Amino acid sequence: MNTNGQKMKVPFGGYVLILAVMASVILQQPELVTGQARVPAMFVLGDSLVDSGNNNFLQSVARANYLPYGIDLNFRPTGRFSNGLTFVDLLAQLLGLPSPPAFADPTTTGNRILQGVNHASAAAGILDESGYHYGARFTLSQQMVNLETTLSQLRTMMSPQNFTDYLARSLVVLVFGSNDYINNYLLPNLYSSSFRYRPADFANLLLSQYARQLLTLYSLGLRKIFIPGVAPLGCIPNQRATGAGPPGRCVDSVNQILGTFNEGLKSLVDQLNQRSPGAIFVYGNTYSAIGDILNNPAAYGFSVVDRACCGIGRNQGQITCLPMQNPCPNRSQYVFWDAFHPTQTANSILARRAFYGPPSDAYPVNVQQMTLLR
Ligand SMILES: *[C@@H]1O[C@H](CO)[C@@H](O)[C@H](O)[C@H]1NC(C)=O
Ligand SMILES: *[C@@H]1O[C@H](CO)[C@@H](O)[C@H](O)[C@H]1NC(C)=O
Repeated sequence: MNTNGQKMKVPFGGYVLILAVMASVILQQPELVTGQARVPAMFVLGDSLVDSGNNNFLQSVARANYLPYGIDLNFRPTGRFSNGLTFVDLLAQLLGLPSPPAFADPTTTGNRILQGVNHASAAAGILDESGYHYGARFTLSQQMVNLETTLSQLRTMMSPQNFTDYLARSLVVLVFGSNDYINNYLLPNLYSSSFRYRPADFANLLLSQYARQLLTLYSLGLRKIFIPGVAPLGCIPNQRATGAGPPGRCVDSVNQILGTFNEGLKSLVDQLNQRSPGAIFVYGNTYSAIGDILNNPAAYGFSVVDRACCGIGRNQGQITCLPMQNPCPNRSQYVFWDAFHPTQTANSILARRAFYGPPSDAYPVNVQQMTLLR
């Protein structure tokens, strides 16, 4: 089933830098082997790309608590929207930290929160309305409230001076924006935003909300904040399956619509760094990292870029991966696990580029450099 068009280059607009040589250098960096964490904790806010099980505790149809999700985590479905680990799990490994536990899990208390907590929730957007048709979710604003709950528990666990230092040295990762497009702007039958805003105005709306929350993180005392942009969503199996693009190609119009969001997020990072003494905000260029993978799949061992490993219909992207469905046998050959989400292999490339990459991957510095500042 996966022999057609595997070697096809996938052009999708002018954003993508072809960085195959550099990428292979990054991939050869040694693993961090020591148990000594580079930061005391990692706090995660985001959507299904980084949810580690919060939606298991919510009335939502956006859940991944069944096999074959987790097939490569010893057949253990955890609520992660992946065959294995997510981007933040793999970033935690590079930092020498355990995967931050899910906020909504009742066992996430006491000493278990000391090295960070994951507040991410599938279907969440920057806008409260995004993703509402999936049911309950922790939106960005609710995740900020939940983060404050986490931090007030932590405050009771150390001295005021230690707490200040702990917050300043901890890493915050925010992964948002995809649902504001996929599950809002690009669904005109359910959401009116595309009638009310042109693409650039919608991006500005998202960025002004995002900026407000990022400044709140600073006012809470957090100082290291990593914010990946949005991937080329026109290339995910779900968007290819709409038939809006030519066969075998990404939907360029979708990638153009979200281009201004990514550009704006990068300039926002510059502005935040100028007005936030002692803090470092970093933009993660997910768009070019995924674009590079899609344009040079063989350089990473991928052979299938246009179909999900688990899913149904056109591009295995019309219906997402169902309970007990048989996925593709070799997940490391696929960029996309289901209609919306990358495989663990693709996530590990994103994590390594965020951690070790040059400014074209992580701007103005990479995550490793963030941890060494101050
Ligand atoms: C504060 O940090 C120091 C150095 O790590 C540690 O020895 C001390 O026990 C901490 N105090 C509290 C109250 O957490
Ligand atoms: C799975 O795919 C990867 C990447 O192409 C390859 O290196 C590996 O040998 C494959 N494994 C099996 C069992 O076919």
